[in-house]
Amino acid sequence: MAYRVNPSILAADFANIERELARIPNADFVHVDGRDNHFVPNLTFGPQMVGRIQDVSPVPLDVHLMIDDPERWAPGYAELGAASVTFHVEASRDPVALARELRRLGSRAGVAVKPGTPVEPLLPLLPEFDQVLVMTVEPGFGGQEFMGSTMPKLERLREAVSAGSGSVWLQVDGGITRETIVTAARSGADTFVAGSSVYGSDDPAARIEELRAAARDAHSH
Ligand code: DX5
Ligand code: ZN
Repeated sequence: MAYRVNPSILAADFANIERELARIPNADFVHVDGRDNHFVPNLTFGPQMVGRIQDVSPVPLDVHLMIDDPERWAPGYAELGAASVTFHVEASRDPVALARELRRLGSRAGVAVKPGTPVEPLLPLLPEFDQVLVMTVEPGFGGQEFMGSTMPKLERLREAVSAGSGSVWLQVDGGITRETIVTAARSGADTFVAGSSVYGSDDPAARIEELRAAARDAHSH
C-alpha cells in the first residue's frame, strides 16, 4: 500500500509560507485548512490566500474545507488548481453532486466526517469519492490530541474499500504523531495529515520520512 504524508500548513510560519513550503519537498500534498468561523469556531484561509499558495507551492494542494455551504465555495478551489478538495458531509446538501462537480473541474473529491459522524451512510457512495477524511480530533484547531475512538470508522471504511473495486484514499487528520500514526495505519488509513508533528520538528522533511516509515512498518507487523 502507498502511504501519503500531507503536512498541514496551519502549523507553519504564515509570514514565510513560500519558505515553509520549500521545507517539505518530499510531502505528497500540502494540507490547507479552510475555516469559516461558522461550521467550526475558528477562521483561517479563503480562496485568495489559497490561490497564492497554489501559485508558489512545489507540492500539490490538499484543501480541507471546514465550512458551511461547501456547494458555494468548494468548486472555486478546484478551479484555482487544487489537486484535492475535501468538504464536510455534515455541511453539504448533496455530497454526491458536489463530488461530481469537483471531479468535473479536475480535482480529486474528498468527503470528511467529524469524530461523532457515522460513516455507514457513505459506504454505498464510496465510488463517488477519491478520499474519505476521518477527523481524529474535533475540527477547528491544530495541536489537539488524537481520538482513538474514531478508529472503528476507519476499519469499517477499509473493509468496504477492500471489498469494492475502488481506490478511495482513507485520510486521518488531527493529532497525528510518530506514535498515533501506527494506530491509524493499522486501522486502515493510508493518507496522514500532520501539522504540529511536521512543522514542530527542526527538520520537517526528515519528520515526513519518519512518519511514512512508521506507517509502512505498522502495516507490515
Ligand atoms: C484541525 C485541522 C488539522 C490540523 C492538524 O481542525 O483540520 O488539519 O491542522 O494539526 P495537528 O497535526 O497539529 O493536529
Ligand atoms: Zn485539516
